[in-house]
Amino acid sequence: MKTNTVAATAALLATASASLYGESNVNHTCVLQPNYLSCSAQADPKTVDSCCVETFGGLFVSTQYWDTYTGYEAQGQVLPEFSWTIHGLWPDFCNGSYTQYCDLSRQYDPAPSPNTTNGLPNGTVVPAYKRPSISTFLAPFGRFDLLAYMNKYWVSQGQPNGDFWGHEFSKHATCFSTFDVPCYGPEYQPHQEVIDFFQTVILYYMRLPTWGWLGSHGIYPSNSTTYTLSNMEAALRAEYGSTPYLGCSGPRYNETTAGRNSTDNGRTQLSEVWYYFHSYGRPQNGNWQHINQTGSSSCAKAANAISYFERTKTSVGPN
Ligand SMILES: *[C@@H]1O[C@H](CO)[C@@H](O)[C@H](O)[C@H]1NC(C)=O
Ligand SMILES: *[C@@H]1O[C@H](CO)[C@@H](O)[C@H](O)[C@H]1NC(C)=O
Ligand SMILES: *[C@@H]1O[C@H](CO)[C@@H](O)[C@H](O)[C@H]1NC(C)=O
Ligand SMILES: *[C@@H]1O[C@H](CO)[C@@H](O)[C@H](O)[C@H]1NC(C)=O
Ligand SMILES: *[C@@H]1O[C@H](CO)[C@@H](O)[C@H](O)[C@H]1NC(C)=O
Ligand SMILES: *[C@@H]1O[C@H](CO)[C@@H](O)[C@H](O)[C@H]1NC(C)=O
Ligand SMILES: *[C@@H]1O[C@H](CO)[C@@H](O)[C@H](O)[C@H]1NC(C)=O
Ligand SMILES: *[C@@H]1O[C@H](CO)[C@@H](O)[C@H](O)[C@H]1NC(C)=O
Repeated sequence: MKTNTVAATAALLATASASLYGESNVNHTCVLQPNYLSCSAQADPKTVDSCCVETFGGLFVSTQYWDTYTGYEAQGQVLPEFSWTIHGLWPDFCNGSYTQYCDLSRQYDPAPSPNTTNGLPNGTVVPAYKRPSISTFLAPFGRFDLLAYMNKYWVSQGQPNGDFWGHEFSKHATCFSTFDVPCYGPEYQPHQEVIDFFQTVILYYMRLPTWGWLGSHGIYPSNSTTYTLSNMEAALRAEYGSTPYLGCSGPRYNETTAGRNSTDNGRTQLSEVWYYFHSYGRPQNGNWQHINQTGSSSCAKAANAISYFERTKTSVGPN
């Protein structure tokens, strides 16, 4: 149970605190607590143990990338063949807004982005992290299996994988009440919550086989065909039960040859998917309730406007 409850807004300002709510580090026996749904009226930090029900960022987003290259192929950082790759797991506020870098005592991101906690010049500066990489945190726990899985499926573009994992952890994971250090009780081992977070990211990722879901509706990567956003959304809705957010990069449709004069200014290269859900009890347990995207796609809506590119052959690793 909590010994001290601090308002979320106060926690936003207390950026150097080790805990979002000032929980005690006595045992948090979550198995004996009711599994209230995050973002429901019952998920109130004044009345529930915030370690057992997400009360800070209860709108979860499990996110994936579709990259066609990594930029680090020469270092062996390649993409898995029949899979999208992990981006992260985010704790948005229930109203869809979010905060970031909530605990600077757990700052493991070598290139903070943004470089202040509020993304503005008047925010608290997020100092760049110096080595050792967060990727070294798994060995003391013997979690070489987890590390191998992450290197295969949590692959970064433009930076070493470990730098990206450090970014995802420090920017997002430090803003969960349920991964807060005091939740791990009196026997806490340093970085235990980092391992727990990585494991939880993978738990959801494994349930969200985007490549196969699109493929089962005839939507495969292609450098000769284009696709329509509504068909891709319908395919994923049929499998997930709710509509995820699809993100596109690349040129705007109105700036392509096909879309000249169009008022559709959405982008045209499929690159991201974000699956939204709430969680009954700790997200670590995986008892989710799917929900629709809270925003709308950044992709062009016109017929056949979207490219779902094949990967560069030399960027794909052996299975
Ligand atoms: C926490 O739980 C452990 C294991 O059940 C028990 O040995 C210990 O006494 C508990 N500590 C507190 C402070 O409740
Ligand atoms: C959204 O919720 C957060 C956390 O409760 C709050 O700090 C923020 O002001 C809210 N934003 C809006 C736009 O209501
Ligand atoms: C943060 O980034 C902005 C924009 O890139 C830059 O102008 C500013 O100097 C940076 N601030 C710090 C403290 O590094
Ligand atoms: C920081 O700057 C923004 C925009 O300039 C302003 O809206 C906000 O109130 C400022 N915040 C603080 C804490 O000064
Ligand atoms: C765009 O508008 C110009 C000028 O009105 C016209 O000549 C051109 O055929 C239009 N292009 C397309 C692709 O509709
Ligand atoms: C396309 O849309 C963008 C964003 O609305 C706009 O800035 C740009 O001028 C448009 N381009 C053309 C060629 O109409
Ligand atoms: C989710 O979105 C779909 C359309 O994408 C809509 O038909 C459905 O009613 C929405 N579900 C809820 C619960 O809002
Ligand atoms: C498909 O097109 C993308 C984008 O131009 C390119 O990066 C990729 O290498 C191409 N893949 C193949 C297999 O030709």
